[in-house]
Amino acid sequence: MSSIAVIGLSGQLGQPVLAALESSAFADRIAYPIKALTRKDDKVSTDKVQYIQADLADTAAVAQALKGTDVIVELTTANPVLFGHVEKIVAAVKPKLVIPSQFGIHVGAAQELAPGFLGIKIDHSTNLRKLGVKVVDIATGFFAEKSSFSYELVQHYGVDTATNTINQLGPDDAKASISTVADIGYVIASVASDPNPSRFPDSLKVYSENVPVKKVWETYEKNHNVKLELKSKKSAAEARAELKQIWDTEGFVPAKFLLYLNYILAQGEGYGVLFGENERELVNPGEKYWKWSQY
Ligand SMILES: NC(=O)c1ccc[n+]([C@@H]2O[C@H](COP(=O)([O-])OP(=O)(O)OC[C@H]3O[C@@H](n4cnc5c(N)ncnc54)[C@H](OP(=O)(O)O)[C@@H]3O)[C@@H](O)[C@H]2O)c1
Repeated sequence: MSSIAVIGLSGQLGQPVLAALESSAFADRIAYPIKALTRKDDKVSTDKVQYIQADLADTAAVAQALKGTDVIVELTTANPVLFGHVEKIVAAVKPKLVIPSQFGIHVGAAQELAPGFLGIKIDHSTNLRKLGVKVVDIATGFFAEKSSFSYELVQHYGVDTATNTINQLGPDDAKASISTVADIGYVIASVASDPNPSRFPDSLKVYSENVPVKKVWETYEKNHNVKLELKSKKSAAEARAELKQIWDTEGFVPAKFLLYLNYILAQGEGYGVLFGENERELVNPGEKYWKWSQY
């Protein structure tokens, strides 16, 4: 039975991860309570979840609170300062397994197009591995959540929601690997509670499905009762050249984050957004633990 700590609860994944860890799916593999670390002071602990109010900057206090924990799941903002705090905490706690805050595109694969893009995630996992712990990076593709990514936030699919227009990058049949946040919660819970985490590859690619970009446009149109107008269209090669030009001249501009993702999506399989391989059987063989959801 694994004792598990979760860090960073109030973002996209906190609720789905806790829901999966508390569900019956993995209950016989988990030593409850889960230690759930948050800066918030309004949480009420239960027999399954023990909330710990702390700031990650207080690394010694957090390490003390997590002493003896087998698995640390990090769901924080991808931020080098926070990552530095977590590395100190991991060095002191020495868990058996760390699942770092990767979740999203396969960052390593995107390096060919935009060298250094999200490199802080790669550096973080490298630093954690140097501490001698097993680290499983989980790439999930784009998040899908009805009130948020891939439904309301659709700029990475080329949609300008301010003008209801589309700047299409890539072919008409472009697709993206996406995961619902519910599935991501289960994937994380499955890896975190696995009795033998050394069986997982260092980098795991798991997703709910590959969704046509056109389906995301149509879903947005339906949900908002609007017609999106095609404003411009560029081939994958044109998109690649344009990304290279802006990346080489400007470097990383935070406001263009979703645009970079769109350029990467346009390149198709193997560049970080559309995965060739789905390693879902490693975490949920034959849907033994849960039923995969769909976009
Ligand atoms: N592929 C996609 O579509 C996609 C979309 C979104 C995110 N992601 C990835 O998913 C991961 C989580 O992202 P997110 O957007 O959910 O994160 P987020 O909302 O920015 O932050 C998650 C949590 O991190 C903790 N945190 C933030 N700043 C902190 C600080 N200064 N000190 C201590 N804790 C702090 C907070 O937890 P508390 O408030 O509970 O303390 C916060 O709720 C990231 O790796 C991100 O890149 C991918």
